Amino acid sequence: MRMRKKQWAQPELNDCPFFCKDAAAHQGDWRKEFCRPEAPLCLELGCGKGGFLSQMGLAHPEQNFIGIDLISNMLGVARRRIVADYEAAGREVENLLIFSWDISRIKEIFPGEKNISAIYINFCNPWPKAGHHKRRLTHPRQLEQYKALLSPDGKIIFKTDDSPLFEASVEYFREAGFRIEYLTRNLGESDFPDSPATEHQLMFEAEGIPTKLLVARPE
Ligand SMILES: C[S@@+](CC[C@H](N)C(=O)[O-])C[C@H]1O[C@@H](n2cnc3c(N)ncnc32)[C@H](O)[C@@H]1O
Repeated sequence: MRMRKKQWAQPELNDCPFFCKDAAAHQGDWRKEFCRPEAPLCLELGCGKGGFLSQMGLAHPEQNFIGIDLISNMLGVARRRIVADYEAAGREVENLLIFSWDISRIKEIFPGEKNISAIYINFCNPWPKAGHHKRRLTHPRQLEQYKALLSPDGKIIFKTDDSPLFEASVEYFREAGFRIEYLTRNLGESDFPDSPATEHQLMFEAEGIPTKLLVARPE
């Protein structure tokens, strides 16, 4: 996703109480950042403009969510979306945190973590060229990292518009030692509950491209 530089993004993020400026310096004790540190902790990887994160945070006040994205500009947009949604709902942003990090190195910022309840990966870049497959956020070497962070009954929920990425990911999950417990190639016609639409999902579904979704748990 290309985005023009937004001069306001970083200053607004710097003043934002739910934005972490230096994830590397944090040493991974993320739960203490939340009003309810004991609540289940969920991650969204590549949260983009924040629509999914915001809707999940509002729908699940009993859970804490961390949204991670590489691009600060994107997080600036996400911050505005989250503030607007929570204000409209008359709620304080108490169960969300966002920060910038390269997910290919996610284990570095979650040292010793073994208790993440859910990891959401929504419409990640499909990296179609064979030589780039290792960059996919669902590549087995990535899934191995996520698996180490999950609680024994934790899960990964993956959505995409991209059929080749989805079919390859089904194999990636199996290869990395996950059991696929739910799979649909048309979310709109499925019985899957509780998956708010992301910005990319709305865009692709408007073009008639169905969303594929799977839920996987460590075996
Ligand atoms: C195609 S967009 C999808 C955004 C959002 N999840 C949605 O469904 O609308 C992919 C997002 O993942 C982020 N991203 C891609 N690779 C990443 C990485 N290695 N680490 C962190 N974020 C990454 C991009 O900056 C972008 O915001």
